[in-house]
Amino acid sequence: PKSNGEPKSNGVPNGGARIVVDDDDEVLRPTDLSEMLAEGTKESHDRAENCQFVKDFLRGRIKRELFKRGTAALYFVYSAMEEEIEKNKDHPHIAPIYFPTELHRREALARDLEHFYGEDWESQVSLSAGTKPYVDRIHEVGGKDPVLLVAHSYTRYMGDLSGGQILKKVAQRALKLPSTGEGLNFYQFEGIHSHKGFKQLYRSRMNELELDADTKERIVDESNRAFGFNMMVFTELEEIGETIKEEVQDAGLGHSHAEIMQGG
Ligand code: HEM
Repeated sequence: PKSNGEPKSNGVPNGGARIVVDDDDEVLRPTDLSEMLAEGTKESHDRAENCQFVKDFLRGRIKRELFKRGTAALYFVYSAMEEEIEKNKDHPHIAPIYFPTELHRREALARDLEHFYGEDWESQVSLSAGTKPYVDRIHEVGGKDPVLLVAHSYTRYMGDLSGGQILKKVAQRALKLPSTGEGLNFYQFEGIHSHKGFKQLYRSRMNELELDADTKERIVDESNRAFGFNMMVFTELEEIGETIKEEVQDAGLGHSHAEIMQGG
């Protein structure tokens, strides 16, 4: 296979833009979609990393019930995303970033849910209010503006291949999940041997998409929107976490369930 670190043709006019070479000797231009996304979502990434739910998670403060609900939320998100990617897999803007065997997570999430909820997991999980706008948006762009699926794929899969590995270790330790990986299939990309290498391939595929400047900007905007949807999911989980804590703390004090729910 062609090396993706290979410098791009120097003959290509680039509007006089600065050309930089990063640690991996990759030639990067500010007009490359991968660069625009990395730069243009930095603040969103900071915000996501610093929201309460994520901070608690990173500290190993994660309740099993919340992890289960988070896994269910991801199941609905990836089901929507992968359904729309599948529908659009021959679209010229989607085909180059179509990597079902390497990336797709729906099956892995289904196995994780089976681990947590048992065989009848499907009857026990449902699309939460905080996840629904995210899922609706994915279907909307898949139907009427499929190029924006690039943003949704980037936001989730590139994140999963980066910070996701930290989260896996934290969850494994905090929830005392078996080292065999049961319940953590989501974090395990069986078809990818080098996360770094795959991310480079994915970036180069994004950069080879034939896109005008306006479309690239719309993709960056959509990625920021996707970060926002992820934050909504985290916020909802954080709120549910507070009610769970109250139920436990109040358990022996004679408060009724209804009082707790009103208070939360
Ligand atoms: C990249 C950590 C949350 C999306 C990364 C990288 C790390 C990281 C270490 C690699 C940066 C690099 O390759 O130079 C974390 C941690 C998080 C977190 C510790 C908190 C738990 C998130 C969330 C999302 C996300 C919530 C979105 C849903 C991404 C994306 C990239 C990335 C899209 C790729 C950036 C790029 O190279 O273009 N993250 N992340 N991350 N993360 Fe996160």
